[in-house]
Amino acid sequence: MAPKHFRTLEDIDPTELVAILDRADDLKARRGSHERPLAGKTVAIVLEKASTRTRISFEVGIHELGAMPTTLIAKDTQMGRGEPLEDTARMLGGFVHGVVYRTFGHEKVETLCEHSRIPIINGLSDDYHPCQLLADLQTVREAKGRLEGVKVAWIGDGNNMAHSWMLAAGLAGLELRIASPEGYDVKPAIVKQAEALGAKVELLRDPKAAVRGVDVVTTDVWASMGQEEEQKAREEAFADYQVDGALMAEADSQAIFLHCLPAHRGEEVSAEVMASAASRVWDEAENRLHAQKALLVHLLA
Ligand code: CP
Ligand code: NVA
Repeated sequence: MAPKHFRTLEDIDPTELVAILDRADDLKARRGSHERPLAGKTVAIVLEKASTRTRISFEVGIHELGAMPTTLIAKDTQMGRGEPLEDTARMLGGFVHGVVYRTFGHEKVETLCEHSRIPIINGLSDDYHPCQLLADLQTVREAKGRLEGVKVAWIGDGNNMAHSWMLAAGLAGLELRIASPEGYDVKPAIVKQAEALGAKVELLRDPKAAVRGVDVVTTDVWASMGQEEEQKAREEAFADYQVDGALMAEADSQAIFLHCLPAHRGEEVSAEVMASAASRVWDEAENRLHAQKALLVHLLA
C-alpha cells in the first residue's frame, strides 16, 4: 500500500483536519501523561534549509510520542555531495518510519515521496508550509472557538505561508483576503488549487482594505530563505506593508495577530504589534509541537 504523505494541506480532507486539531488539543491538555503511540519507531528530520522551530518541535514531539528523532543537516550528508534524492528516499525507508523534509523547490518533496515507502512530511518548501498551518489553525480555534467563517487577512509576500493559508481557507472555510504589492503575488496555479478545495480568496493591493474588520491578521518575512539577495529590493517593495498598530486598528477589536516566526521587527511587523495583547505568536509557536504530534499519530500510529 502506498504510504500517506503530508506534502500540502491537499493531502488531508476537512474531516481529517478536524480530527488532527482535536487530537492536538487533547495532546496539549494531557502533555506529560498521555500514551506513547509511536513507541519503538524512528523518524528522520532532513533539513536543507535553516530551522529552529520545525526542528525542535518535531524532535520533542517525536520523543514525547515514544519514538526517536534523528536529524540530518543535508549539507553534512552525502545529499550535500550529490547523492540522488531517489536513492536517499529508498535508503531512508530501510531505517526509519517517517521523514520530515525541509527543502527549496517543492518538486523535491514530490520526488522524495515518489520514491519513498514511508510517509513524508513537508517541513517547508519554497511553495508550502503545511505543518505551520496546522499550528496556526489550532491557535485560531483556541482564540475564536471556530474556523468556519473566520476572516483572515494575509499582509505581504505571496510566499509559501500565503499559499498554505489559501489551502487552509479551502479546508477550514476561512474567508481569506491577501494584500501583496505588485510583483509579489501568490502563484495563480495555487489560487486554483485552493479554489478547488472551496476556498474564498480575495486578492488585493491595499493592506488597509484587506484588514478591515477581520478576526486574524497575519504576515511573514519579506525575504524568505533562499531570497536573501533580494532583501534590499524587497524592503522597498514592501515598505507600505508593515503590520503596525495603525493597521491592526482597522481589524476587529478582538482581532489576533499571528506570525510563523522568525519575525523581523521594523520590517513586516512593528515591535509594538509583536508585544501587543493581540499577538498570539508564542502560542502559535508552541502549537507546532501539539499539532505536529497529532499529525504524526495520524500518519504513523
Ligand atoms: N516557523 C518555522 O518554520 O520556523 P523555523 O524556520 O525556525 O523552523
Ligand atoms: N516564508 C519563510 C517562512 C519561514 C518559517 C521562509 O520560507 O523562509
